[in-house]
Amino acid sequence: MASDPASPTRHQPVLLREVLDQLQLEPGAVIVDGTFGGGGHTRAIAERIGPTGRVIAVDRDPSAVARAESLAETLPITPRLGNYCDVPEILRELGLETVDGILLDLGLSSDQLADDDRGFSFQSTGPLDLRFDPSRGEPAWRLLEHINERALADLIYRYGEERYSRRIARAIVERRRKREPIRTAADLADLIRRCLPRQRGRIDPATRTFQALRIAV
Ligand SMILES: C[S@@+](CC[C@H](N)C(=O)[O-])C[C@H]1O[C@@H](n2cnc3c(N)ncnc32)[C@H](O)[C@@H]1O
Repeated sequence: MASDPASPTRHQPVLLREVLDQLQLEPGAVIVDGTFGGGGHTRAIAERIGPTGRVIAVDRDPSAVARAESLAETLPITPRLGNYCDVPEILRELGLETVDGILLDLGLSSDQLADDDRGFSFQSTGPLDLRFDPSRGEPAWRLLEHINERALADLIYRYGEERYSRRIARAIVERRRKREPIRTAADLADLIRRCLPRQRGRIDPATRTFQALRIAV
């Protein structure tokens, strides 16, 4: 089920105290949170810098930005939908030449992982979408329907640093030839686990391929 922006976040900010210490926040500070997510870090920062300060809260995910907008009703937060790579441009638009700190908390939020329609969790049985912003580009399941085997192997190797990229690409394209294309995250994770050797360390064998596809879409 798609996440409701009005609903409270499930995400617990990681290393909150350490992040706040590192930022050395003063009242009136201007801070960029380039990965707003559930807003736990932003909220704590905004409370410390007070009404004369400002948190520029950026996220690529429109549901995260909707949460930021609701938090901005009571705290000094300026929400922006976008990529953290675009922060210099966002600051220019806001007329800000310098900021006092930048936070990037990379990865996925628990809200995204819990949303079965987005395919971020390996167990997800909803569509394998994998886009942070579902209004742009194409979902991963569709990419897997038309990308050629070599380009897919290169993509998995380049963005996922997956040494078994060719084997995984072959298995995906083979499924397509049999007219049983990959549609869900659970399906893709299962296929990857079956075509890779066991015991590759502590991470799930599907991790690198999912990372590559998230970057690609
Ligand atoms: C681990 S969560 C951040 C959690 C947040 N610090 C909190 O306290 O709730 C990571 C967030 O980064 C966002 N994200 C991932 N890649 C991004 C990018 N290139 N630009 C902006 N946001 C991005 C995701 O949509 C997700 O919401």
